[in-house]
Amino acid sequence: MYGESLPVEAAVEYRRWDANRSKLAAYLKCGGRRWPFGEQASVLYLGAGSGTTVSHISDVCARGLITAVEVSSRSFRNLLTLAERRANLVPVLGDASKPQTYAGRVGSVDVVYQDVAQRDQESIFLKNLGMLRSGGTGFLIVKARSADVTAPPTRVFAAAKEALMSSGFSVMDVRSLAPFQTDHAAVVVTKP
Ligand SMILES: C[S@@+](CC[C@H](N)C(=O)[O-])C[C@H]1O[C@@H](n2cnc3c(N)ncnc32)[C@H](O)[C@@H]1O
Repeated sequence: MYGESLPVEAAVEYRRWDANRSKLAAYLKCGGRRWPFGEQASVLYLGAGSGTTVSHISDVCARGLITAVEVSSRSFRNLLTLAERRANLVPVLGDASKPQTYAGRVGSVDVVYQDVAQRDQESIFLKNLGMLRSGGTGFLIVKARSADVTAPPTRVFAAAKEALMSSGFSVMDVRSLAPFQTDHAAVVVTKP
């Protein structure tokens, strides 16, 4: 997918998951242990890019379904090529700030994962959490510099936590992704 190695051990092929390329791998390397990505999980992924992290979730949720939304047509072309080889991946060319345009196809999911690197990242996430089932898990990747270039990242992460809590979600983890992804944090919530 991106030049990662494919070591084989005891006739089983593994894929290296690079924490410098994928924030979800960085979350694990940084000690994050909230892990709702079961083999059969349904996932709504917002800001899929060319599908680097999506491809790993597709491996992990092998019998689940990943709906991957991407707004850039250029990145979407690569995502489409990936989806041709992966039966559990549904690519959507769309804007995550307008969930009404794809919500009908998605229904209710076990996991909402968002990595859009936009100023209004929290409000986009909150709009999409309507599709998260009760008891489901949301991952918001916060890019501090997208929210406010001047504020200290810790303050931006705390504000994201506060916004999600005041909307009725339980915040289970707020974790910096440094040194793999500087000025980024994962905020993990569950829906009551
Ligand atoms: C940091 S990159 C994503 C990398 C990807 N999540 C990964 O780990 O492989 C952010 C992506 O979000 C997309 N994006 C930004 N705003 C968006 C929106 N409103 N709706 C959907 N995608 C958006 C950008 O086009 C870009 O591809």
